[in-house]
Amino acid sequence: MTVAGHLLDNISLKSNPNRLSLDTYNSLFKINDVENAWETEMTLSLGDIAISPLLESDFDQVVDWTNTTEARKYFYPHFPDTKTSLAPYFSAPDRDYFRVTFKDSFVGIIGAEQIDEASKKLEMRKLVGASTMRGKGIGKHATFLFLYYAYIVRDIQKVYLHSLDINLRNLNLNGKFGFYLEGVFFEDVLIDGEWHDLVRMALSKQIWIEIYS
Ligand SMILES: CC(C)(COP(=O)(O)OP(=O)(O)OC[C@H]1O[C@@H](n2cnc3c(N)ncnc32)[C@H](O)[C@@H]1OP(=O)(O)O)[C@@H](O)C(=O)NCCC(=O)NCCS
Repeated sequence: MTVAGHLLDNISLKSNPNRLSLDTYNSLFKINDVENAWETEMTLSLGDIAISPLLESDFDQVVDWTNTTEARKYFYPHFPDTKTSLAPYFSAPDRDYFRVTFKDSFVGIIGAEQIDEASKKLEMRKLVGASTMRGKGIGKHATFLFLYYAYIVRDIQKVYLHSLDINLRNLNLNGKFGFYLEGVFFEDVLIDGEWHDLVRMALSKQIWIEIYS
């Protein structure tokens, strides 16, 4: 019921012409607040939180984070489970991943899958690695920085994501960014013998600019 309620909120967010006054992060983030050092250092930051391209030396840590039972329950399809399979995975031309740092410590990853240059869209995935680092605002800041990268640096027109029905924290986070519901795929994913619905949400460049200018 909670998930259904949240989804209805998102539907009304999309259809409500006054969506800018609804509950989004527009009092927290503004496009102009991003410190854009992309041309010189390939880094985007907001205060202590920054994103920059993922390094091969990060892979050991990434495997530790993505290979936990908890992370495997949030991501479908799963990330590869060995360090050697991560190198070809992250260097695929339709992927583009970043390291997320907090005060220069590596705390998570965020990135793009299924980059479609023709239709200018991509799928976003994110993970704050250590569970003790969650709930402190890192995911929120990293998401805003990634959206800045997608829309401003790469001129992508639509960012979408898939979330499993069980992932309430992620649904809350995305709804407040302005992501709206595009569809629910019922009993779409089988994890540990249990079927889960898959929710697809999206945010267009135009709406993001309207909300965060
Ligand atoms: C989802 C995730 C990236 C969010 O990052 P985070 O740093 O933990 O989240 P933040 O501290 O930035 O909080 C973002 C929002 O999450 C929501 N949230 C935080 N804790 C929550 C909880 N325990 N239950 C429900 N929602 C919660 C809130 O809406 C919060 O925003 P608010 O404080 O402005 O209301 C992170 O928790 C994570 O990596 N989870 C596991 C992997 C995952 O689900 N990835 C997404 C798949 S695409």
